[in-house]
Order: sequence, then structure tokens, then C-alpha cells
Amino acid sequence: MKLFVDSANLYEIEEALKRGFASGITTNPSILSKEQRRDFTMHIRDIIELLRRYDAPLPLSVELFTTDPADMTRQVEQFLSDFGDYDNLYIKVPIGWPELQVIHEIRRLGGRVNCTCCMSFNQAIMAASAGANYVSLFWGRIRDTGYDAASVVRQVKETFRQTGCSTEIIVGSIRQMIDVSEAIQAGADIVTVPPKFFPEMCAHPKTTEAVAQFIRDFQEWTAEPAVVAAPPSTVSELLRR
Ligand code: E4P
Repeated sequence: MKLFVDSANLYEIEEALKRGFASGITTNPSILSKEQRRDFTMHIRDIIELLRRYDAPLPLSVELFTTDPADMTRQVEQFLSDFGDYDNLYIKVPIGWPELQVIHEIRRLGGRVNCTCCMSFNQAIMAASAGANYVSLFWGRIRDTGYDAASVVRQVKETFRQTGCSTEIIVGSIRQMIDVSEAIQAGADIVTVPPKFFPEMCAHPKTTEAVAQFIRDFQEWTAEPAVVAAPPSTVSELLRR
């Protein structure tokens, strides 16, 4: 079980790296579009530099941003030339018939593939058979169509296990915190999580209550005892005070 950070935001990625729990980073064109507009290549290079600065050469997924077969091939070449020095680069290719050829070509060139936008068992099986290292199943979007995302993940996992397939399952499209635990229990090897959920995943009201109680009790124990005056023993003493 591994957690990836589903973000292209340098601050969010750094906050995860500081805490050491992240096992990878996933981006896509929509995630990138949330960042301040700038040169795409420079932004990805900055993510790579950040990962290196933290001595954390984690898998980094960068997605193609065209659907034209010839352009996809050109982009693959460009990605390999611009980011190929980073050993843990995964080129994200959406599942599809022309796209399988792109996946096969990346693998032939020695690159790695995260086959993305998979919503069904068959798509995942096709992606893995073409050589994808990761298949990304989209939990929230599968559920949007009325299908049970957990059973899709479970079936793919079981088939990979039975056939000895080394492709790993990433579950993405996480919409709420409970999706993370359900995806892990369904058999996801990796869940890629929007960073806003990470602090929430560490929190519990009973934890807050327990910690506050421990601090309060300790402070009371270490505080100087209050000097309490002895009560007057006689009315005349009371009047003298
Ligand atoms: C991750 O790899 C996916 O691109 C991402 O989780 C998709 O999420 P969405 O369905 O919220 O766009």
C-alpha cells in the first residue's frame, strides 16, 4: 500500500516530502492548469528539482496533452528528452486503441508508463497487456457512472495476482476521505490523493480530546500549588482580617 500526492503544486508537494509519507507524485493537464500559468517544461523541471532536493527520487507521472496519434508520439519524444534524465519518470497515457501503440513504443524505448483514465476491467487488462507499469483506475468517475469502483479494483487486482502480472494499480479520482480506505481495502497498490485530505487523514476528534487532556493534566501537576489561607477559627479573627 502506497500513497501518492495528486498535485502539481510545489508547496503541496514539499509539505508531503517534509513528512516522508509520499511514495510518488501524479499530475495531469487539469491539475497543472490549477497552477499559475507558466512554461510547462519548467514547471515539471521544478518538481523534479524539488524531489532531488529532498533526496526523494519518487515516481513522477506526467501526462500527454494531446489525443492526436502523431502528436502523442512527438510529445513522448519531447518528454523523454526534457525529463528523461529523471529515472523515475512515468509518462501518463490515457487508455485507448491508438494509445496502446504509444504505450508499447514508450516501453520499447525503455520508458515507463502510467496508463490513465481507466474506468473498466477490460481497459485495465488491455493497458497491462500492452506493458503499462501502472494502470490508473478512476474511483470517483467510475462511481459517477453508477458502477461499483471497489469491485472493478478488486477484479483487476485478483486477475493481476492470478496471472502474475507486475502492473501496479493506482486508484485516483479520490473525492472524499473514505474513498482512500475503501480503495486500499479493494486492493489498490497505490492511492493517489489530493493533498487537502492528508491533514484530515491524520486527525480524529478523540485524538484532539486526548492530547488536550494530557497537556491539561500535566500542567496542573507541574503548576505551583496555590497558597490557600487557613479559614478563620473565631468570629473575632474573622473581624480582624
Ligand atoms: C490521477 O492520476 C488522476 O489524474 C486524478 O486523480 C483524476 O482525478 P479527477 O477524476 O478528480 O479528475
